[in-house]
Amino acid sequence: MSEKKPNKGQKSRKGVSGYGIGGVDVVMSVDQVAKEAASMSDAAPSSDALGKLVENNPYLTINDLRAGYGKMEILHDFNLQIGKGQSLCLIGPNGAGKSTVLHSIFGFTNIFSGSIVVDGLDVTSLTPSQKLSKAGIAYILQDKSVFPQMTVEENLLMGGFLKGRPAEAKQAADMVFDKYKRLADRRDKPAGVLSGGERRLLEISRALVMQPEVLLVDEPSIGLEPRFIDMVFEILEDLQKKDGKTIIMVEQNAKKGLAFADIGYVLVSGETAIADTGDNLLKNPDVGRLFLGG
Ligand SMILES: Nc1ncnc2c1ncn2[C@@H]1O[C@H](COP(=O)(O)OP(=O)(O)OP(=O)(O)O)[C@@H](O)[C@H]1O
Ligand SMILES: [Mg+2]
Repeated sequence: MSEKKPNKGQKSRKGVSGYGIGGVDVVMSVDQVAKEAASMSDAAPSSDALGKLVENNPYLTINDLRAGYGKMEILHDFNLQIGKGQSLCLIGPNGAGKSTVLHSIFGFTNIFSGSIVVDGLDVTSLTPSQKLSKAGIAYILQDKSVFPQMTVEENLLMGGFLKGRPAEAKQAADMVFDKYKRLADRRDKPAGVLSGGERRLLEISRALVMQPEVLLVDEPSIGLEPRFIDMVFEILEDLQKKDGKTIIMVEQNAKKGLAFADIGYVLVSGETAIADTGDNLLKNPDVGRLFLGG
């Protein structure tokens, strides 16, 4: 943990030459990040600490969850608390189990023990479709969630039909089109012609139509140019601040994710190493060194 970053310009094992002028600082190897991050998990946060972050009024809680795929356990006694209308961002090395947390909440994993409770309702063993209908949990950015033959507008409206309120869905879709011209210009086009970034906007804005209570969002900014990243975070902000939705997200862009979220968890090898407010994690030197690139 005490290893020093090489000074600017100083050649070291960690500095490699770039092309042309100047050098490229290799911050740390993937393995190194994982190893150093693992050593932080010694001080796993207590449930008191997690409770404080939600003012002891959790809306969704994960209690001592052991879950994984097949027989393989990925999450080990994992705990999480989030209050209604809060946002929480999971960060951590590749393979830490961040997506598995979202998968477990939505019902895509094998749960060996522990529980997931939303608004007093134990949802641990509900199927994904029951998760949406009974607990209002939606998993967005699921692969292939856009129907390529249907128009952009029809895709948006799907969310509303799923919950059986077509009139409200139509109104919400019109609001989306008022705000996002890029989608409005393409509302009658088949969604299959959208670029990757436009498709992401469509997938996320569908949540505005669907109006689930809890939104699970996996890496909303991945592969997007800055302008699209900003639009995506703007939609998420609308969902949280205007519509009071509860958002749990995973974000590789830790700076963006932690700046957005009320709460941040650093996940390492299926366990939480640090839990704090997003702002505090942004200021945390270990987090900065390992995940914020400096
Ligand atoms: N469907 C699956 N079947 C079997 N193992 C899986 C499955 N999905 C993930 N895993 C394994 O679970 C572990 C955690 O994966 P997970 O996708 O949750 O990591 P992550 O923190 O989201 O990583 P990344 O930052 O790379 O997205 C990995 O070792 C991975 O190989
Ligand atoms: Mg992932």
